[in-house]
Amino acid sequence: MIQGFDHIESYVGNAHATAYFFTHALGFRPYAQAGLETGRRDRHSYCVQQGKIRLVFTNPLSPRGDIARHVRQHGDAIRDIALTVEDAQVAFERCLEAGAEPIAEPHVLEDAHGSVRCASVGTFGNTVHTLVERGFYRGAFLPGFCPWRPTGELSATHLVAVDHVACCVESGSLDRWVDFYERAFGFGEVHHEDIVTEQSAMNSKVVGSANGVVKLPLMEPASHQGKSQIDEFLEYHGGAGAQHLAFLSDDIVAQVEALQRGGGVDFLETPDPYYDALPGRVGTIREDIEVLRRLNVVVDRDPHGYLLQVFTRPVTGRPTGFLEVIQRRGARGFGGGNVRALFEAVERVQAARGNL
Ligand code: FE2
Repeated sequence: MIQGFDHIESYVGNAHATAYFFTHALGFRPYAQAGLETGRRDRHSYCVQQGKIRLVFTNPLSPRGDIARHVRQHGDAIRDIALTVEDAQVAFERCLEAGAEPIAEPHVLEDAHGSVRCASVGTFGNTVHTLVERGFYRGAFLPGFCPWRPTGELSATHLVAVDHVACCVESGSLDRWVDFYERAFGFGEVHHEDIVTEQSAMNSKVVGSANGVVKLPLMEPASHQGKSQIDEFLEYHGGAGAQHLAFLSDDIVAQVEALQRGGGVDFLETPDPYYDALPGRVGTIREDIEVLRRLNVVVDRDPHGYLLQVFTRPVTGRPTGFLEVIQRRGARGFGGGNVRALFEAVERVQAARGNL
């Protein structure tokens, strides 16, 4: 029923500036836009694209209305995790049976290039899922959008698809949301991870589509004395929402080298002792550990293989939304082992200073 991620739409203060960041710092291509000139009176949207990834950034044109309210409450934040479906009507009805709030009834969007059937349902927080039935639409992105192709050189990139969208939900609600995704979308629980460090704790369950393309790690804070990154997200975002977008890469080393040359993306730094302990933790890998150390790429292994990942600092203004680049060499996990490994690396540095 669910074929894949269709697009991810964020509501932001200035869609043009955000699109500029994604095109100039992250190598996305300008793709489509819609606004007053194309008959939309309340918003302006820019769509950028790379591989199979389509991101939409929308800003309100006035201080009134749902978009402005969303930006006021959540800051720049993901509003819509849109999913491509075979049949929007059937998908919509199934979501309602599972208890989803209807946001937009099934309706047809049309222009000279064809038509697309859409419907939207609510999920955690103020986040929605638009169900997109594309059929044979041949235009730019969606009816109502026109092509957007500013000129200029763009860097070569290696992002091929959205790997997962990680979402933070309120403490105690994780199992309810897993149940919702199972009933509404026919997702299965594909992964389960509880992460406890000395300072904080969280529970995480990953729901995914039957074809393995859509994966949503859902995370809730677990009771613990410290404040977890999930608590921090819920506080600054103003409730549940999508925390990070992970882009699947076919060459993370080339990708991160290109992004570091460009200089527009701030990555989380990984402490040196993490890499000293890496061979013992993950065994033999194809990549040169000294290169990974220079690029702050971290590695995790599961029974199926290993994965490489790198995280940016927040890109949304608030300490809420960030980006991940992930390359999978067989692994099906999400890097849970890195949380503890990074924590222990910090501890070793602390111990070396005689402060543990
Ligand atoms: Fe992730």
